[in-house]
Amino acid sequence: METKLLPADSAGIALAARLLREGQVVGIPTETVYGLAANALDPEAARRIYSAKGRPSDNPLIVHIAALEDLYPLTARCPRLAETLAAAFWPGPLTMIFQKSGRVPPATTGGMDTVAVRMPSHPAAQAVIRESGLPLAAPSANLSGKPSPTRASHVYEDMNGRIPLILDGGDCAVGVESTVIAVGEDHVRLLRPGGITVEMLSRHCRVEVDGGVLHQLREGEKALSPGMKYKHYAPNAQVILLDGTEEDFLRYVNAHAAEGVFAMASRAEAARLVVPTLPFGGEREETEQARRLFDCLRECDEKGARTVYVRMPDARGVGLAVLNRLLRAAGFTVIKL
Ligand code: TXA
Ligand code: MG
Repeated sequence: METKLLPADSAGIALAARLLREGQVVGIPTETVYGLAANALDPEAARRIYSAKGRPSDNPLIVHIAALEDLYPLTARCPRLAETLAAAFWPGPLTMIFQKSGRVPPATTGGMDTVAVRMPSHPAAQAVIRESGLPLAAPSANLSGKPSPTRASHVYEDMNGRIPLILDGGDCAVGVESTVIAVGEDHVRLLRPGGITVEMLSRHCRVEVDGGVLHQLREGEKALSPGMKYKHYAPNAQVILLDGTEEDFLRYVNAHAAEGVFAMASRAEAARLVVPTLPFGGEREETEQARRLFDCLRECDEKGARTVYVRMPDARGVGLAVLNRLLRAAGFTVIKL
């Protein structure tokens, strides 16, 4: 199959909408990461997503909508708190899990009786949803197990020959996938941290952080969010997190320079390192770290890095999402300095 890469202008959006109505899969930009979109109500279209991505079919998809009234037909019940959070954070990088209605096929939800829904804020994503007139199921547009794509070129690397169209809407502003929560009556449970932070959610309700966010699931333990159980975001290089001060980090990495290691580092740190560096962010620059993270992980492989050191990020704000993804990329390998 020939894969077209077009700008997300009115012609591109019109073609995307037509392909989606025909049951095809299209790569689209969102504010978090690029998505691999298809009609969420068509089981055949959903199955095409799993096959393009090489994804296990028990890992459910997020359904993307462009207006609040499009939520209700997808859900059996919508808690009051979910409406409060939708008013506060939609459109934006927040995904909420609901009991699903009969309209949503099990092929979209990985066989679960719940459905994850979010309203993206990227104008091109909104335009594609509106013009297609469909709720769109969309996982991140990477091959399963690879770092999520934050640029159209990343999607092209993974999906060339597998899907008919990718829309280029520029680099993703957030850079990590949406926050995923299960919503109760008076509290939420954080299953995957993202751009809507614990601090932001806590202004509206109590927030429980699921144990799987920062810890490895034990053998046989059940993941509330099935995506958390798979090895994720991993480049071919071995990523190693170093837990210590900036000085400790610089000393440790430079001491291993002869082994040909790489580092993800801020500009200031890079100036003091004698190893090749990938531009990341530094202390208190968690927004920049989130934006750069997946591009850094992809660059590790392009540069042929075998070992990549990263300083353990601060877990405040979107830093919790950066830490969550890095721990998975590192297979939970952390060296305490
Ligand atoms: O930012 C994002 O959320 C991006 C963009 C494209 O919107 N999408 C994305 O989708 O990250 P994906 O499929 O790569 O990750 C979805 C996560 C997975 O960890 C999945 O297990 C979880 O959400 N999830 C989806 N439906 C669920 C459900 N019904 N119950 C629990 N977890 C669910
Ligand atoms: Mg993903």
